[in-house]
Amino acid sequence: MASSLALLFLSLLGSTCALLPPRISFLLNSPERPLVHFNLTDVSNTATLLLSNDSSTLYVGASNAILLLNVSQSDVISLRHKVTWSPSKVDRGDCAYKVQDPKVDCQNFVHVVQRVNSTHLYVCGSNAYNPQQAFIDVERLSVVQQDEARGRCPFSPFERSSAVMIDQELFAATTTDFKGKNPQISRFLSKDGRPDISLDSSISLLEDPRFVSVSVDPVGQKLYFFFSEIGKEFSFVDQIQIPRVAQVCKDDIGGQRILQKKWTSFAKSALLCQPPEQPPFNILEDMFTLQPPEGADASETLFYGVFTSQWSRRPESAVCTFRLKDIRDVFAGTFKTLEKGTYQLKPPAGRQYLGQCGLSNSSDSELSEAKMNYLTGRNVKPVGPVFVFPEQKYSRVVVMKTTAANSQQYDVLFLLTESGFLHKAVPSDQDLRVVEEIQVFREPQRVKSMILSSSKGLVYVGTSEGVTAVPVAQCPSYRSCRQCILARDPLCGWSPTRRTCTGLDGAGDSVVQSLDSIKGDECQPAERILQHQDVFVQLNEVVTLQCVKPSNLATLRWSFADAAVQSDRLFIQAANGSLCFLASAGTFGIYRCQAEEDGLMEVVASYNVRQASSPRHLSKVNRDPVTPGPEKRSVETEDPAVIPVSDAPEDETFITNDSDAEERVTQAKGDAFSVQEIVPTSRKDSRSMKNPAEEAPTQRSYHSELVVVSLLLAACVLILVLGAVRIWGRRSAGSGSDRLPSADDGTKTNTSMEIHSLSAAEDAGPDQTIIP
Ligand SMILES: *[C@@H]1O[C@H](CO)[C@@H](O)[C@H](O)[C@H]1NC(C)=O
Ligand SMILES: *[C@@H]1O[C@H](CO)[C@@H](O)[C@H](O)[C@H]1NC(C)=O
Ligand SMILES: *[C@@H]1O[C@H](CO)[C@@H](O)[C@H](O)[C@H]1NC(C)=O
Ligand SMILES: *[C@@H]1O[C@H](CO)[C@@H](O)[C@H](O)[C@H]1NC(C)=O
Ligand SMILES: *[C@@H]1O[C@H](CO)[C@@H](O)[C@H](O)[C@H]1NC(C)=O
Ligand SMILES: *[C@@H]1O[C@H](CO)[C@@H](O)[C@H](O)[C@H]1NC(C)=O
Ligand SMILES: *[C@@H]1O[C@H](CO)[C@@H](O)[C@H](O)[C@H]1NC(C)=O
Repeated sequence: MASSLALLFLSLLGSTCALLPPRISFLLNSPERPLVHFNLTDVSNTATLLLSNDSSTLYVGASNAILLLNVSQSDVISLRHKVTWSPSKVDRGDCAYKVQDPKVDCQNFVHVVQRVNSTHLYVCGSNAYNPQQAFIDVERLSVVQQDEARGRCPFSPFERSSAVMIDQELFAATTTDFKGKNPQISRFLSKDGRPDISLDSSISLLEDPRFVSVSVDPVGQKLYFFFSEIGKEFSFVDQIQIPRVAQVCKDDIGGQRILQKKWTSFAKSALLCQPPEQPPFNILEDMFTLQPPEGADASETLFYGVFTSQWSRRPESAVCTFRLKDIRDVFAGTFKTLEKGTYQLKPPAGRQYLGQCGLSNSSDSELSEAKMNYLTGRNVKPVGPVFVFPEQKYSRVVVMKTTAANSQQYDVLFLLTESGFLHKAVPSDQDLRVVEEIQVFREPQRVKSMILSSSKGLVYVGTSEGVTAVPVAQCPSYRSCRQCILARDPLCGWSPTRRTCTGLDGAGDSVVQSLDSIKGDECQPAERILQHQDVFVQLNEVVTLQCVKPSNLATLRWSFADAAVQSDRLFIQAANGSLCFLASAGTFGIYRCQAEEDGLMEVVASYNVRQASSPRHLSKVNRDPVTPGPEKRSVETEDPAVIPVSDAPEDETFITNDSDAEERVTQAKGDAFSVQEIVPTSRKDSRSMKNPAEEAPTQRSYHSELVVVSLLLAACVLILVLGAVRIWGRRSAGSGSDRLPSADDGTKTNTSMEIHSLSAAEDAGPDQTIIP
C-alpha cells in the first residue's frame, strides 16, 4: 500500500510537454464554420440526448420536458413535438423546503431517455427530488404510464448517472437517496419473471462514486460502468480518487441463499491513466465506446477516456485509450479479498469462477468468496500513449473512425472543453494534434453532453441552453491546397480536379492529403496567383499593411522587394501581423507577407505601396489604408505570388530581428507592438481570428493610432525643438555645443531615423530610438 501511495505521488511536478495550440480557431457563429443551434426560451437543460435509429429524430431530455427534434436535414433543427412533464404541485411543495434553490432544484430534470421498442421511449426524471419514470408513446406523443423510480435516476438535477436499456430491461447506476450518498447499480424491468438485481449492501462496494458512462459487451453478456470514486485500497484516511470500470453480467439472477437478488458478478478494477514521471490523472470525466472496425473482433472495441487530476492546480487533462480485451483479461485474473478492513491479494488457485457470469447455482462458499472478492488484482492499463493537455480541461469526448485519403483508418476525437470549445484531435505518433477548435457556447454550462452521428457527419452538443449541431468537418474552409494539406485533417482532402478542399464522403475523386507528416510540397504547381493590392499613400503618411495568419501554427514574415532603398526605413510589426511604417521615398514598392508552416511557405498578402497622385487618393488611404474591400484595385502585376522556399528572390529583404529595439519599444508602449519581428499572435485563450464580429479592432487600432500619432507628434515636436534650438543657437552666437542630448551623433543620423516619444517621458523611460 505504501509503495502504491509513493507511486501515486511520484514527482508531482512532472514535466509538461509543450503541446501545440489548436491549428485553427473558429469563434461562435463564425461564417466559415457554421453551426446549427436550437433552443426554446422556456426549456432549459437540454442535455440528455438520444438519436432515433433512423437518425431523423433527436430525443432530448430537458427540464420539465422531453423534446422530439426533427433533424432529418443536417442544416436545420426544428421542433417536432414537446412533451411537457413537470412535477406536481405536491412534489414541488415537498421539495421547496428541503433544497437551497427551489426554483432550480424543484424541476423535473430528465436524466434518462432510452428506446424501449419501435413505439415507446423510457424516461426517468428527478421530479423535484422525487424521481419518476414514464413511458412515452412517440407516435401518439403522450405519456403512457408514470410511477416512482428511486434507483433509476438521481434525486438531484445535476448529479451524473448512467443508464442503458437492453432488450427492454433497464440497467442503471445512480444514487438512491435525497442526499446522493447511497450509490447503486441495478437492473429494473427484468423480463421473464426474473428478479430485479442490485448491489449487495452489507458491505460498501462503492465509495462516493461519480458515474460517467456505461457500455455493453455484446459477446460477453456483460455491462461495464465507468466512474471515479474514493479508492479505499490506497488509504482509508485520504480521499484519493480512483477511476474505475465495474462489471455486472446482464443475465445475473443473484444467488439462492447468499447474494439473493444481488449481483454475483459484480467486480471492479482501476483504470490507469498515468503519463511517465507524472502523477496519474485520476478523475474520469467521460468515456466513449468506439466500436471496432467492421470485421474485427469485438475484443478490439476501444474506450476513449478523458481524465483530470485531483492534484492539478490549473486546467489540465489527459486522454487514455483502453481496449475491451484488456478489461476482459483483468476481470478474468486475480482478485483482492477484503479482510479486516484491508484488501489482500490472494492466489487465484481454485477461484476461477470469480468475475464470471452464471454463478447463481454456485455453492454458498463460492458465493461468499465472490461477495468478498470484487476488486481485481490488476489495473487496466491503456493502449498507446497517454496524451496530456497541459492547458485544457476537457469534460466530454466522442470519437469517430474514418478512412482518410491514404486509405488508412484514423480515429478522430471530439473533445469538449469546460469553456465551450470543441477540439477536433487526431492521434499522430506520440501526440494528439488538434486540427481545429470550434466554439459552441460562451459561458460554462452546468450540464452538457455530446453524441456523434457518423452517418450524418454531425456532433450534437446539448447544454443548459440548447442543442447545437457541429459538422465534423468543413473542408472548404481550407481555402487553398496548401491550407488543406497543412490541416492534415483525415476528413478532408484537396481535389486537384475541382480545385477545392473537399470531404471524403465517397466522391470517387482522388484527393491529395498529408496525414502523418508533410512530405514535400504536394500542391505544385502553385494553384493560384495572388495579385498585388495597390496602396496609395502620401509621403510621411502612416501605412498599415494587414496580414492575417492562415493558422495559429504559421509564422509570418514580411519582405520588401526593393533592396536599393532599404537603409532608412522604419517598420513596426504589430502583434497581429500587420506592418506599419511611415511612407517615404524609400518605402514605396512591393511588400509580401509570407506564412510559413511545417516548411511550406505561402504568400498570404501582397501589396504595392505607391505614392498617391491626388488628394482624393490620400483621403481614401487615410480612412482605409489597405483593406481592399469592394473598391479593391487590382493591378496588372502578374508576379506569381507563391514563392517556393528555395528560390526566394535574392534581393528580397526580410525584416530582421532586433530584440533590443523590441524591448525598448515595449517598455514604453506596453505590449501592443514589437519592432521588426514577427511575433506569433499571443494565444491566451486560443480565440484568434476567425470571427470578424468577435474581434476587438477598435481597441487594437486605437492603440496603433495612439502610438503612431504620438510618434508623429514626437517627430514634430523634435523638429520644432530643433528649429528653436537652431534659432536660439544663432542668436546666442558663440556657444558651440548646442546639441540636444537625445540627438544621435552624426554618423548614425544618415542611416537611421529617430523618433522621440513624448509619451515615454512621463514613464521615465529612455528616449526611443528605433533603428531599422
Ligand atoms: C436562443 O437562441 C437565440 C439565437 O439563436 C438567442 O438570441 C437566445 O438568447 C437563446 N435563448 C436562450 C434561452 O438561450
Ligand atoms: C422534418 O423536416 C423536414 C423539412 O426540414 C420535413 O420535410 C419533414 O416532413 C419533417 N419530418 C417530420 C417527421 O416532421
Ligand atoms: C413497447 O413498449 C411499451 C411499454 O412497455 C408497450 O406498452 C408497447 O406495447 C410496446 N410496443 C411494441 C410494439 O412492442
Ligand atoms: C430500429 O431499426 C430496426 C431495423 O434496423 C427496426 O426494426 C426498429 O423498429 C427500429 N426502431 C425504432 C425505434 O425505430
Ligand atoms: C440453476 O438450477 C436450476 C434448477 O436447480 C436450473 O433450472 C437452472 O437452469 C440453473 N441455472 C443455471 C444458470 O445453471
Ligand atoms: C531574435 O534575436 C534574438 C537575440 O538576438 C534571438 O535569441 C532570437 O532567436 C531571434 N528571433 C528570431 C525569430 O530570429
Ligand atoms: C492589426 O493591428 C494594427 C495595429 O495594431 C491595426 O491597425 C490593424 O487593424 C490590426 N489588424 C487586424 C486584422 O486586426
